[in-house]
Amino acid sequence: MKILATGAAGYIGGSFVYEALQKKYKVTGLDNFSNSKPSTIKKIQQAFPENFSFYEIDLSSDKHLLEKILKDLKPDVVAHFAGLKCISESELYPNTYWENNFQSSKNILFAMHGSGCKKIIFSSSAAVYDPANTQPLSESSDLKALSVYGETKIAVEEIYKAAAQEGIIDVLSLRYFNPLGVHRARIVSDNIESKSANLMPKILRVALNLDQAVKVFGDDYTTKDGSGERDYIHINDLVSGHFSAIKYLESNNGFHVFNLGTGKSVSVFKLLKTFEKVNAIKIPITIAERRIGDVAVCYADPKRAKDILKWEAKETLDKMCLDAWRAIEKNGFN
Ligand code: WQD
Repeated sequence: MKILATGAAGYIGGSFVYEALQKKYKVTGLDNFSNSKPSTIKKIQQAFPENFSFYEIDLSSDKHLLEKILKDLKPDVVAHFAGLKCISESELYPNTYWENNFQSSKNILFAMHGSGCKKIIFSSSAAVYDPANTQPLSESSDLKALSVYGETKIAVEEIYKAAAQEGIIDVLSLRYFNPLGVHRARIVSDNIESKSANLMPKILRVALNLDQAVKVFGDDYTTKDGSGERDYIHINDLVSGHFSAIKYLESNNGFHVFNLGTGKSVSVFKLLKTFEKVNAIKIPITIAERRIGDVAVCYADPKRAKDILKWEAKETLDKMCLDAWRAIEKNGFN
């Protein structure tokens, strides 16, 4: 099977590509390194010189090169990971997010249509769900994004769904909750440079003595301990969900959506305590104001993926915290 993976140097894309190559798939990777590093591609090329090829390409502008790659490769499936994913950043730079996330996805659709490639797995997000929904969130929960990031994901799902209804492509949209940890191959970790706004990179920066303390954005939510709750899922589970999705898409047409989450809701304080416990590291905190765009609670009802994809998350929160630190403690920035 031939896979075209966009965002192949990214935290999720790079982890998926490595595992796909381990499974003996032929993979062509695309990335523009706007939120990832060439060193990740080099590591993959060294490990799999036979079955891996790579193009540095900006999907939002290099339309002709993209069409040529698809026409030449004729992939059996496109795994579309490329996209900027920081909610707070999307509020500051909306045009960049629409250009990077929406325009690139549109270009992929046109290039697939022009090359006869029909199957695509799309990286969507829990950020598409309306915060007013009751929790846990199922695939039929209302969609109404609170952030520009979430709006771009809804917009892509809409054009892909329309194209699927016209029989142009078959789509499996995977709505990720909060990925944590590092893939077992340790080929790439989440971006821990200061611009990453996510909680675990901030914890790792404090553990590396790069920052003094983790700011907890609000301890007055109506949750068990007052801090925000999320559905944290190990990157290994997220990656394995993609192979279940590819298998399903091989024999199903149309547009399908699945949550990729554990079904467990974990608070910021609980995550901090777990990290400290499993790694024997003290993580100082300060309590700050709530962050704009944050919802109090967001976690998945993972039943549909379990029943239909025969997939469920297996890794524990302890393992997510252990793997996240082990991959970083030795070499800091990867
Ligand atoms: C988690 C919790 C914060 C930072 C992420 C991704 C997004 C999407 C959904 C895939 C919240 C709190 C955070 C900090 C804190 N994933 N926090 N101090 O906002 O749920 O969004 O998951 O598509 O791409 O960004 O994740 O890690 O930023 O926040 O207290 O310094 O941690 O308030 O409760 P979020 P996050």
